[in-house]
This record gives sequence, structure tokens and C-alpha cells, in this order.
Amino acid sequence: IVASFGDRVLQGKKVVVSAGPTYEDIDPVRFIGNRSSGRMGFAVAEAAAQAGAQVTLVAGPVTLATPHGVAERIDVRSAAQMHAAVTKAAADADIYIGAAAVGDYRPNAVSEHKLKKQSGSDLTLQLAENPDILASLSAQRVHPFLVGFAAETQNVESYARDKLQRKGLDMIAANQVGHGLGFETADNAITLYWPDGSAELPRADKASLAHQLIERIATRYKAVRG
Ligand code: CTP
Ligand code: CA
Repeated sequence: IVASFGDRVLQGKKVVVSAGPTYEDIDPVRFIGNRSSGRMGFAVAEAAAQAGAQVTLVAGPVTLATPHGVAERIDVRSAAQMHAAVTKAAADADIYIGAAAVGDYRPNAVSEHKLKKQSGSDLTLQLAENPDILASLSAQRVHPFLVGFAAETQNVESYARDKLQRKGLDMIAANQVGHGLGFETADNAITLYWPDGSAELPRADKASLAHQLIERIATRYKAVRG
């Protein structure tokens, strides 16, 4: 079923979407990143705007134009910057959709100068854990309806349900990465989980999936938050 947007299911709601990767700097010329293109998150932001929401898009380093209808875009680089921007934007939001692939670790220290190769020996980088943005929002007494993403290469349902529970989310959108799906691809396929249910969104382009996802989020939001 293709969702119809005549009914503007998120009319008047404030929605914050995070998208893309984060880059964790090692030195002035190197970083640790990941393969997220940001396309799924940008498609979700566009679909939310088309559904009538006032959308703030917090974007990691991506090369994508701001989708039509998105009210505000905040560009960040690191997980710490994304955490700060999302926390601020989500303070008065109705819904937060965490579609970003947030780096789990960052180098303990960022070298002021370019690291020089020490030929003949291995290099060990010390990494510190980044804050979990979704978990930190969920820990706040008052917080938006929380939607996470889980890109997995195996055990999709058990890992996704574990994240739903552990991070205190209202919904999670899980997808298998690989087989021509997921990161760096045009198509995606999602299974949505919430505490007492699930729904399949079969393989489709990211825009179509984003519309279906927004419809489902709006339905659950209304069920849980009235
Ligand atoms: N997430 C977050 N803050 C982090 C890491 C992840 O908010 N520091 C969010 C992501 O935006 C996503 C969800 O948590 O919506 C799941 O991310 P994922 O990387 O799959 O979960 P992790 O708990 O980091 O587990 P792992 O990487 O070990 O699979
Ligand atoms: Ca992670």
C-alpha cells in the first residue's frame, strides 16, 4: 500500500531527524567514519515535511541537498557535535528519528599535528566511547517519541528488539545490510518493531520506504501519545 499524504499525518508536529555518518578526527587530515550515505535519513526528513511536520534535520558529513520543506538543517561532524545539536533541537520536539550512523568510539585525543608514520612498527589508537544519543534522550523524564534505526548484518530481529528495549525506544526500523541493500544503495527493506508489534516494509526505493515509515510512526505516535 502506498501511503497517501492528502491527510498530512504529522501536521503541526515538530520532528527532529538525524542522518548520515559521523567523522571522528584522528589528526588534521584523518578521521574514522562509516559508510552511511545519509540518503535514508534525508528521505525520512522529506517525507515528514510532506506529512506536515516542522522538521529539523541534523546532518553528519554528507553531500546531499537539503530536502524540500525541511525547516532547519544543522550540519555537524562528530558524534559529540551531533549529540549536542540533537539534544538542543529535541528539547521541544514531538518526535526524534535517529537515522544517523553515529560513531560508537572516538580517538582519545585529536592530534594537533599530522601523525608521522613510524616505519616497521604497528600503530595502536586508543578510542573512547561516545555518548548514546537515543539512550540519553530516553533517560530524560520528558522526551520526544523515539524512533531508532538498526543496520545489521546478522540476527536482525534479536539485535533490533534488544536495542528497542535497551535504549527505551518507541519504535525501531531494522534492516539487513548487504545483498545490495542498506548503506550506499538506492533500495532498502525495513522491518519495524515496537514493544507489542512489528510490520514489514518490503524492498523499495528509499523515498517510498520513508513515506511508509512516516505513516507508521504517525499511527504509533497517536496510539501512544494521543
Ligand atoms: N545511536 C545513537 N547514539 C550512538 C549510537 C547509536 O543515538 N552513540 C542510535 C543510532 O542513530 C540508531 C540506533 O542508535 O538509531 C542504533 O544504532 P546502532 O549503531 O545500530 O546501535 P548500537 O547500540 O551502537 O549497537 P552496535 O553498533 O553494537 O550494533
Ligand atoms: Ca553503533
